[in-house]
Amino acid sequence: MTLAIGYVYLITAICFILALKGLSSPRSARLGNLLGALGMLAAVAVTFLAPGVGNTAWILVAMAVGTAIGVPAARAVPMTAIPQMVAAFNGVGGGAAAVVAIADYLRSSPEPAAGTATAVLFSAAIGCISLAGSAITFLKLQEALIGGRPITYPGQSAFNAVLLAVIVALGVVVATAGGTLPLAILAGVSLVLGVTFVLPIGGADVPVAISLLNSFTGLAVAASGFVLSNTLLIVAGTLVGASGTLLTRLMSQAMGRPLTNILFGALGGTASEAVAQEGRTVRRGTPEDIATMLAYSRKVAVVPGYGLAVAQAQHTVRELTDLLEARGVEVFYAIHPVAGRMPGHMNVLLAEANVSYDHLKDLDQANPELATTDVALVVGANDVVNPAARDDPGSPIYGMPILEVDQAGTVVFLKRSLRPGFAGVDNALLFHPRTIMLFGDAKESLTQLVARVKEA
Ligand code: TAP
Repeated sequence: MTLAIGYVYLITAICFILALKGLSSPRSARLGNLLGALGMLAAVAVTFLAPGVGNTAWILVAMAVGTAIGVPAARAVPMTAIPQMVAAFNGVGGGAAAVVAIADYLRSSPEPAAGTATAVLFSAAIGCISLAGSAITFLKLQEALIGGRPITYPGQSAFNAVLLAVIVALGVVVATAGGTLPLAILAGVSLVLGVTFVLPIGGADVPVAISLLNSFTGLAVAASGFVLSNTLLIVAGTLVGASGTLLTRLMSQAMGRPLTNILFGALGGTASEAVAQEGRTVRRGTPEDIATMLAYSRKVAVVPGYGLAVAQAQHTVRELTDLLEARGVEVFYAIHPVAGRMPGHMNVLLAEANVSYDHLKDLDQANPELATTDVALVVGANDVVNPAARDDPGSPIYGMPILEVDQAGTVVFLKRSLRPGFAGVDNALLFHPRTIMLFGDAKESLTQLVARVKEA
């Protein structure tokens, strides 16, 4: 039986690897997700047959409770709140890994094997940091209780370093002399470190922190695998740890900032930190003018951003682009890797509206096209098209690659105000003579454009 379980675990591990591969492209993401879920189902089912697994009834009750919470939560969550949900699920995973490791330590106490004790300590510490850190990222993104701004205090890095040193010292005590009290204190201090580590990270940087905590959870799960001598947990945890680390790197690269700057040098702006715009004028357009311009263009680029998600305007933007294409206008969507608030945010939204993948161009494909584009229609995006990231070495977002919409013939912004994006950085492009502003909720503006294009 153990051999059969081993084979199923092997197949499951292959499913997980193929799932990650599938998730790397919007075309194959659904299949990847399905493969991962099937692999997980097989792994859970076969684990019931493993020697020493008892309490089946209690496990089934726990699974039923988890399913009753998880399924409705995942179904009801609005697209804009997916990052919070990922944070919550990630924290629960880290907490579960810590609890499993601690429970196994208590079971085998007073004499756990030396190697096991190290894995227990690692899993308990990292799992608790991930649990508490993810809870704080959840609250920050939800803007509940603590808001999204960085919470800083003098000497915070030194304080965190002291907490880390205490955790290591307690780990040495538990590994050498044993004892449940030092282990409990270690878990408590790790929870505190999770909170104090994430509090200073600013709103726009929180998704990067979530990705990093996700990789922590993976490592905690892998350590739990060593505690339980379960190869699949080791493989799955390592995959999560490695992919989370890569994602964290890719996100900080796409934002043009080193990870250390994101974690310890809080940029931390929020949209509420509006920059004063006195003394500059903007060109306002009417839906009629803009619709006519779009309808008689040769090539139009749509640049979606966070505002598209807020307005839930993905179906309306598709309706508009369908109409334009029916009139012979060449249309493409230019997708910035960090547009929105989570990796792939725009891809998910546009897939929901059945926008064909052939219409999507990433940063490298879109930028050369923008120079020959008549109109760049920027729908609820700001930071990802801000030329300051390219031209102003003093700007906090300097170095972030942007979609160069300022190379297009005309830029049309659909947004509600002149407020900056989440980085809190002024965007001079809003005031450029070739820029036209259509103020209002993106969905309402697009609905008006659809109506006017039909009449054009
Ligand atoms: P932002 O720069 O945040 O700009 C979004 C704009 O949407 C805002 O200026 C806002 O302007 C507008 N908006 C909000 N609600 C709207 C509505 N209902 N209708 C119309 N417009 C609306 O977004 P972006 O350009 O997508 O850039 C993403 C930012 O998030 C970057 O700074 C990026 O570094 C950061 N970030 C992203 C990620 C990932 S992985 N995606 C991770 C970490 C950080 P008004 O208030 O004037 O309407």
